Amino acid sequence: MIHVMDTYSRLPIALERGHGCRLWDDSENEYLDMVAGIAVCNLGHTHPAVVEALCEQARELFHCSNIYRIPKQERLARMIAENSFESRVFFCNSGAEANEGAIKLVRKYCNTISRRGPKIITLSGSFHGRTLATLTATGQDKVKKGFDPLPEGFLTVPFGDFVALKSVIDDSIGGIMMEPIQGEGGVRVPPPGYLQKVRELCDSQGIVLAFDEVQTGMARTGELFGYMHEDVVPDIMTLAKALGNGFPVGAVVAKPEIAEAFSPGSHATTFGGNPLAMAASLATLSVMVEEDLANKSRDTGRYLADKMDAMRPLHPAIKEIRGRGLMIGIEFDGDISSLPTDGLKKGILLNVIQTNILRLVPPLVISRDECDEAVAIIHELLKEKGL
Ligand SMILES: Cc1ncc(COP(=O)(O)O)c(C=O)c1O
Repeated sequence: MIHVMDTYSRLPIALERGHGCRLWDDSENEYLDMVAGIAVCNLGHTHPAVVEALCEQARELFHCSNIYRIPKQERLARMIAENSFESRVFFCNSGAEANEGAIKLVRKYCNTISRRGPKIITLSGSFHGRTLATLTATGQDKVKKGFDPLPEGFLTVPFGDFVALKSVIDDSIGGIMMEPIQGEGGVRVPPPGYLQKVRELCDSQGIVLAFDEVQTGMARTGELFGYMHEDVVPDIMTLAKALGNGFPVGAVVAKPEIAEAFSPGSHATTFGGNPLAMAASLATLSVMVEEDLANKSRDTGRYLADKMDAMRPLHPAIKEIRGRGLMIGIEFDGDISSLPTDGLKKGILLNVIQTNILRLVPPLVISRDECDEAVAIIHELLKEKGL
């Protein structure tokens, strides 16, 4: 442990095996997983289609470099476009890297095509990653502290406030980046009509609209991509987390007229889009589409949120239950940051953000019985804490 850098507050268990919504630690203790590796293993752990695709690809070829054609990249890019909007895709390895790529693409587009900007607006409470550009884009001071000097060219406006956003628009603004639903910021859904108004503003001014769908994408919110709830199509969409169901992969998905700002040499990565990542992602997206997991996420999400809601009279500390599909945030009056540790003793994995918000993001394959089990354990935990 001492040789690993001290950058995470870790819970004291070591997980060794997983299947569906269940995980087992190195002492064979079983846990019901309400975290899914933080909205990553959407098909459940060790899904057979992904395991099979990875094993088959591992026997053929791990890696070859982007200086050669990679047919599975071409297939996955087409499949993403067919299931979202007409686009070109750049593959990378993580959410921060996808957003970093999106930021570079916005700047290149501004500097070479739209000739406006290239400043980018983001929202307070947002989270876009931990690289220097993405932490600067992030609307939370705590992730920026100690990392000066930060890159220039970003400004943050209050979440969900269209008037405030509009008031800072001038020719120096080239792009707006936001999550359709904020994840790390506390599962915050923007007010109805907000995304539509932002889209109209971008259209009227020639500003690039980028949606960070790293957490909301891949059926998590009850649609395959979060933008679909309000039918507000972005110019750029970034993906990562659940794209490979746990295999590291990210993607910058851009409309062709934006993507054309990049040409050979503009952007690159050694590992991005390698055959193993593409095999895992193709299998993941295929299962998602074939089994209409978005619909399942919507149904089960409603069921789980309703069950939590029914508990409210017993737990007055619950302030609000919000979210979409199986991205649910339960805000409490007071600190609940010990809940994940307490949950371990009762065989459940839980995640708390911002000290007072319980975030439920289980694998989308979670059954209603498993939801009932989770709700019963959470009820016990809250009762013990007098909440
Ligand atoms: C919306 C959003 N964007 C970007 C990121 C960063 O992704 P990664 O940790 O893969 O770099 C996250 C991670 O939580 C996220 O939720």
